Amino acid sequence: MNILVLGSGGREHAISTFLAKSPLCERLFVAPGNGGTASIASNVSLDINDGAAVLAFAQANAIDLVVIGPEAPLVAGVADVLRDAGIDCFGPGAAGARLEGSKAFSKAFMLRHDLPTAAYASFGDKDAALAYVREQGAPLVVKADGLAAGKGVVVAQTLDEALAAVEDCFDGRFGAAGATVVIEEMLKGPECSLLAFTDGITMLPMAPAQDHKRAFDGDLGPNTGGMGVYSPVPIVTPQEHAAMCDVMQRTVDSLRAEGIDYRGCLYGGFMLTAQGPKLLEFNARFGDPETQVVLPRLKTDLVSVMLAVARQELAGIELEWRDDWAVSVVIASGGYPGSYPKGLPISGLDAAAALPGVTVFHAGTKLAADGTLLSNGGRVLNVTALGESFSAARDLAYQAVDLIHFDGCFFRHDIGGRALKGRSAWED
Ligand code: AMP
Ligand code: GLY
Repeated sequence: MNILVLGSGGREHAISTFLAKSPLCERLFVAPGNGGTASIASNVSLDINDGAAVLAFAQANAIDLVVIGPEAPLVAGVADVLRDAGIDCFGPGAAGARLEGSKAFSKAFMLRHDLPTAAYASFGDKDAALAYVREQGAPLVVKADGLAAGKGVVVAQTLDEALAAVEDCFDGRFGAAGATVVIEEMLKGPECSLLAFTDGITMLPMAPAQDHKRAFDGDLGPNTGGMGVYSPVPIVTPQEHAAMCDVMQRTVDSLRAEGIDYRGCLYGGFMLTAQGPKLLEFNARFGDPETQVVLPRLKTDLVSVMLAVARQELAGIELEWRDDWAVSVVIASGGYPGSYPKGLPISGLDAAAALPGVTVFHAGTKLAADGTLLSNGGRVLNVTALGESFSAARDLAYQAVDLIHFDGCFFRHDIGGRALKGRSAWED
């Protein structure tokens, strides 16, 4: 079968890698793709947020399955256009993607369905929002309602910070995404991402993963798209795991009860609080970089799973997982998440990828005409290692990272460090 993947990050290189390994996959296209997908698929230039353009490509190339990686095309309704034309698609339509596309919608949904989450209020009016912040006092979490590439959230420790965050939002810092503001109670605890396959009826959870959002060691510096990740998460108790799975199944049931046909990956971002896991957010897609540690542990054929999701046949699928632990370290361009140079030659990749148990997923890379691999983004590579123990996977990932170089590159040295120390590492 012919498959089209939309996106260009490490997530899409990981998804494409495992689709390409399937005996069911004949031709694989990635739009727009990156330097990594170029070697396992045909990269195609396409406006992935334009449903009509994606549909035209799919029809012209006899595509049987489209897998949508990032949130923007989901929120734009690309999956609806494809499904309406009879093309199988992994990814929810615009109605389901609102769970990620609007935090106010998502919080109201959680409340309506009694899903555990932080107390909140949402405002379309600046003065009302400022008055609420003064009344509540710090700490508070201020969120732009719409998509803001992970930058729309301020965890404000002081009243001034919270007021400034509200001002920023209404002053247009996030454009239309900030026209509504969500203000939340601050929760405490370790964070944990639980991704699940769902066809709108059946929910099959993947193993929990934990991302590292801050740029620098010790969870310091600005927030990023994610600097490293591991899976499973050793500090999650069986009770917490069961509670998160219950929330995910109830979410799927609630979507269905509201008439929302959700087929794809549902991502629950949880905080493991003293009162149990609480939802921080939903994403309507695979996590990046979570995918880079979750999919390498999946033994079941990914094409079969994604097709079953798209065709609402997931009840017939049983997922099988490797016992290994997975750790992934992001190598980023100097300056990220601020401005950074592009076009720098990358060395050492073959030696790193030759280590047994190591896979290097590309994010911001491109192949030059002469075949040289160049940096082409902020997060450049995801170095994933599988190991029989958590520390074996971590040590192997860093052994591989040390072989790779480009000018100015940096990475965090402490991915998984807190997990090794246990739960007490999250207590302050
Ligand atoms: P979100 O995009 O809603 O997941 O928020 C981004 C990040 O902000 C989360 O990963 C948390 O680190 C933090 N955050 C969001 N909501 C809260 C909250 N209610 N309490 C504490 N931290 C939060
Ligand atoms: N790793 C966080 C996200 O994908 O949103």
